[in-house]
Amino acid sequence: MQAYQIKAGQQIAGLEVVQRTLSAPTGHEVQVRIHAVSLNYRDLMIVNGSYRVTSENPVIPCSDGAGEVIAVGAQVTRFKVGDRVAASFFPEWINGNPTTQNTAGALGAAVNGMLAEEVILSEDALVAIPKHLTYVEAATIPCAGVTAWNSLFVEGGLRAGDSVLLLGTGGVSIWALQLAKAAGLRTIITSSSDEKLERARSLGASATINYKTTPEWQDEVLRLTDGKGVDLVLEVGGQGTLPRSITSARMGGKVAIIGGVSGFGGEVNPAALIGSVKRLAGIFVGSRSMFEDLNKFLSVVEIHPVVDRIFPFLQAREAFTHLEKAAHFGKVVIEVRQ
Ligand SMILES: NC(=O)c1ccc[n+]([C@@H]2O[C@H](COP(=O)([O-])OP(=O)(O)OC[C@H]3O[C@@H](n4cnc5c(N)ncnc54)[C@H](OP(=O)(O)O)[C@@H]3O)[C@@H](O)[C@H]2O)c1
Repeated sequence: MQAYQIKAGQQIAGLEVVQRTLSAPTGHEVQVRIHAVSLNYRDLMIVNGSYRVTSENPVIPCSDGAGEVIAVGAQVTRFKVGDRVAASFFPEWINGNPTTQNTAGALGAAVNGMLAEEVILSEDALVAIPKHLTYVEAATIPCAGVTAWNSLFVEGGLRAGDSVLLLGTGGVSIWALQLAKAAGLRTIITSSSDEKLERARSLGASATINYKTTPEWQDEVLRLTDGKGVDLVLEVGGQGTLPRSITSARMGGKVAIIGGVSGFGGEVNPAALIGSVKRLAGIFVGSRSMFEDLNKFLSVVEIHPVVDRIFPFLQAREAFTHLEKAAHFGKVVIEVRQ
């Protein structure tokens, strides 16, 4: 079978197709024929050498894939041949709290990921995908979808009627917008593009702000919330946005610290948190059980995630380049098998 491999830091040009042979699954192993893989900003960071977890050896990139079970080891009980599955970002974080052990083996960084025609994983790493979703759509869930779910409803604890600020229109933010809309939350979303903001409104965004033409966008968030601020911010911007995100949260509100598309440095002024009792909460994707809860919700509300563009398997480099340009809205997917 064919797979891509990359050594961290080799840049997009370093992505190469290799032939690999898999032995038949044994014990609790499941062999999955991958149909689709979605890209995350993290996959770009690995390729560019800026991700903090790396391997000395070339690895198969990408955490997010969906496919069908084609063989199972003798002790497998959770799945059978023909089942439609996706892999959980952390194969060993099943439920409960994250630990250094159960978050050590995230797919596509230090260990092989999903950008391959076939993979073999433990049955514990897999979840069944919702019936209403195609493989392309299901491949968008494991990192961006679960991160949005965890931030909004697990760590964020939001309930219908609450408000959330989303930054930019990438994978996490658009997943969050779709989930928030379905759950009856009030959403404010920012973007560098009025065209993308128009699309966000058509997906149900309650209010939109262009962060290029309104650089002091936190003032607009406060204006839109009668001076109070939002219940939760999904902070994906990092050093260029964090102080403004903190200002945008209401007294007693929370900022889910997710990413750093503008870099990971910067300072946090403790005074900005103390007097207004605001909390910062680091998010690390989520557990398999969060993924399963999300799938239950998706099956009820029948959301179809926004897929910006689909690339064929042999154009994976073009797909990474497309993500790097940040012209996308929602998720970028590689179709491994049509
Ligand atoms: N902690 C976790 O568990 C976790 C999980 C998933 C992702 N992440 C992180 O979250 C971040 C987003 O990931 P993603 O996969 O959603 O990325 P993505 O799809 O590549 O989204 C990038 C988008 O961010 C927006 N953006 C860029 N600069 C911005 C700025 N200064 N202010 C506001 N928005 C800005 C742009 O939106 P517009 O084009 O609309 O301007 C851009 O399209 C990354 O840093 C990633 O590593 C963390």
